[in-house]
Amino acid sequence: MHRGRIIFSLVVALTALLVLKPSLSSGAAAQKWKYVGNKGCKCHLSPGCFEGDEYKKIKHSEAFKSLKTEEEQKDTNCLKCHATGHGQKMKDPKLTYLENVACEACHGPGEGYAEVKNDLAKGVKDYAELAKKYELKEKGKKAFNELLAKDPMMARKVQYDAGLVVAGINNPEGTIKAQCLECHWEKEDDKDRCPKAIDEKTGKPKVFNLEEAFKKDDHRDEDEIDKIVAKMSPADKSKWKGYIERDPILNSPLKPEAKAPKKKAAEAED
Ligand code: HEC
Ligand code: HEC
Ligand code: HEC
Repeated sequence: MHRGRIIFSLVVALTALLVLKPSLSSGAAAQKWKYVGNKGCKCHLSPGCFEGDEYKKIKHSEAFKSLKTEEEQKDTNCLKCHATGHGQKMKDPKLTYLENVACEACHGPGEGYAEVKNDLAKGVKDYAELAKKYELKEKGKKAFNELLAKDPMMARKVQYDAGLVVAGINNPEGTIKAQCLECHWEKEDDKDRCPKAIDEKTGKPKVFNLEEAFKKDDHRDEDEIDKIVAKMSPADKSKWKGYIERDPILNSPLKPEAKAPKKKAAEAED
């Protein structure tokens, strides 16, 4: 009897391992950097910065509030979509997830950004070559900005090569849609959907429509890289293949307010 129980427990434990392992190990294996939380994105979240302002408008920034009971706040099945990085490595070892759909839910763990931006020499493999080619004079934090000013495309390449998800691309499947579908679903009978997201009028499960959702969630603004990409010759486009916008949705027009000069508009109001 006793032995039977032990064997039974072993079987249960092994089954659990087998069932859980694929998702756990794939996340852990793919994780090069740790999650730092939105405080690591504070420049983008400062007043007048387009990305942050747009982000605050949509419910991603409050998704954790939808988990109303303590039970829900501990439920892995709720946390995988209403929180960020659940079960993955965090910079703050006290945390096991970040509340809400944080910047890093789509842009990937932020530790790498800091590494590249705080010390380009440490963040980049072939730094000596790069520094020579671009005659970089600055050190530490200023080195990345120097490169950004001299050649924005190269600065972006450096970020991609470090494995960072910049401007929504460089994710494993290479499309924004795949990124959204990690937490959203397109069919009412999808097995992996939110049990609470029911349309009040029809009583049916809500479904995701990429085009509509992207319009709401789009936080691109016009920056130097957009201007460069728009004017690129076919030869340059092939030179930078893999480093310029490759997802068709990224070529859709920007929101009108995304083109307004951000800081200047705010100053003019004062
Ligand atoms: C597969 C990802 C996923 C899981 C798992 C999930 N949610 Fe959600 N949840 C969403 C998304 C996405 C929405 C927004 C849907 C929309 O507006 O189209 C949402 C919306 C909600 C809402 C707002 C309802 C509404 O109609 O807007 C509540 C409350 C909620 N979820 C609670 C929970 C709880 C509690 C759990 C765990 C039992 C959970 N969710 C699990 C993704 C998820
Ligand atoms: C739901 C996923 C998601 C979240 C959450 C998210 N982003 Fe993005 N981000 C994207 C995608 C997709 C793109 C590329 C398309 C676009 O800009 O809409 C992008 C683009 C950007 C860009 C480039 C914009 C440009 O002008 O090209 C910046 C900078 C950025 N995000 C910063 C942030 C910051 C900071 C946060 C948190 C405050 C954040 N993002 C949260 C998905 C997300
Ligand atoms: C980490 C999971 C996750 C990812 C990835 C994600 N979402 Fe969401 N999204 C949610 C959750 C959860 C909600 C519901 C928030 C709530 O009401 O609690 C939501 C809600 C939304 C809403 C309704 C927000 C509002 O204010 O009305 C839009 C639009 C949306 N998501 C667009 C996107 C787009 C576009 C992408 C891909 C670029 C994306 N989401 C990626 C989890 C995610």
